[in-house]
Amino acid sequence: MIDLGVNIGSVHFKNPILLASGIIGFGEEYQEIIDFENLGGIVTKSISLNPRAGNKPPRIVETPCGMLNSIGLENPGLEKFLNEKVDFLKTIKTNVVVSVAGSSIDDFVEIAKVLEPIEEFKILELNISCPNVKEGGILFGKNPDLTRSVVRRVREVSTKNLWVKLTPNVTNIGNIASIAEEAGADAIALINTFEGMAIDINTFKPKLGNVIGGLSGPAIKPMAIKRVWEVFQTVKIPIVGMGGIFSWKDVVEFLIAGAQIVQIGSSIFNDPLLPIKAITGLSDFLRSHNYSSISEIVGKTKINE
Ligand SMILES: Cc1cc2nc3c(=O)[nH]c(=O)nc-3n(C[C@H](O)[C@H](O)[C@H](O)COP(=O)(O)O)c2cc1C
Repeated sequence: MIDLGVNIGSVHFKNPILLASGIIGFGEEYQEIIDFENLGGIVTKSISLNPRAGNKPPRIVETPCGMLNSIGLENPGLEKFLNEKVDFLKTIKTNVVVSVAGSSIDDFVEIAKVLEPIEEFKILELNISCPNVKEGGILFGKNPDLTRSVVRRVREVSTKNLWVKLTPNVTNIGNIASIAEEAGADAIALINTFEGMAIDINTFKPKLGNVIGGLSGPAIKPMAIKRVWEVFQTVKIPIVGMGGIFSWKDVVEFLIAGAQIVQIGSSIFNDPLLPIKAITGLSDFLRSHNYSSISEIVGKTKINE
């Protein structure tokens, strides 16, 4: 058996396949389809301090090889998360990464403080990259000073592994990643969705109620790979790669580009069993090429060879 295990900071993952934030909510329904124990982990829907109703519909538009969403971080808020979701999440026999969103730095700090005593949650993923909310969201991840402040302030109150999830909607993602690393991030997660828009040619109206949204799915994979590769040259901390993974081959590609772990998002809507197929496919690939662990391929892109 190939050992697909990966350590990121002090946390062990039995394999590098996780489910991305926003795809399975808090996991209650999806557990009927996949036994989470088989996965490296799951990432929760981003939670904010106060409940959010999200944006007005329509909030999803299908596009060639992808989808636009403008959900707008609909979530029950921290209190309901604690009262209604945490007990279930504690029963999951794999890593549960809690995704945290905020309208202000103080929101992120407050949520991190409240989650600090919950031992089952070893990792926080700071979502500083949501394109679909007016305040907070992507504004943090586009601004080097805000990125530094939010990571630093959360670092001061949290002993958990901090993953910082970046937006690709910036000119120099390597620079933002370095700032997050300096400020105390344990890993960089990338990428969140690309800003996008679609217009109905019969009505001339935007197809999304929020006018703009975030593009995800196979359409964005080459752009995600490029950014993972770029950030791999820039930081020393591990990279959590995502964006358009549609098959086990995409997982291999992300690892070669420099990710140690990957998250699968939109493609779950197309094939709910993809995470399991990806684990088998990755394992078979490593075996057939005589590799004994994934570390042998991580970041091994050959340039000019
Ligand atoms: C419907 C939907 C909801 C999402 N919600 C969140 C969210 O709450 N927090 C977050 O960090 N990312 C969210 N994302 C972004 C995904 O986690 C992921 O970064 C992005 O979709 C790229 O991966 P993919 O192409 O595999 O979907 C969402 C994506 C989709 C499609």
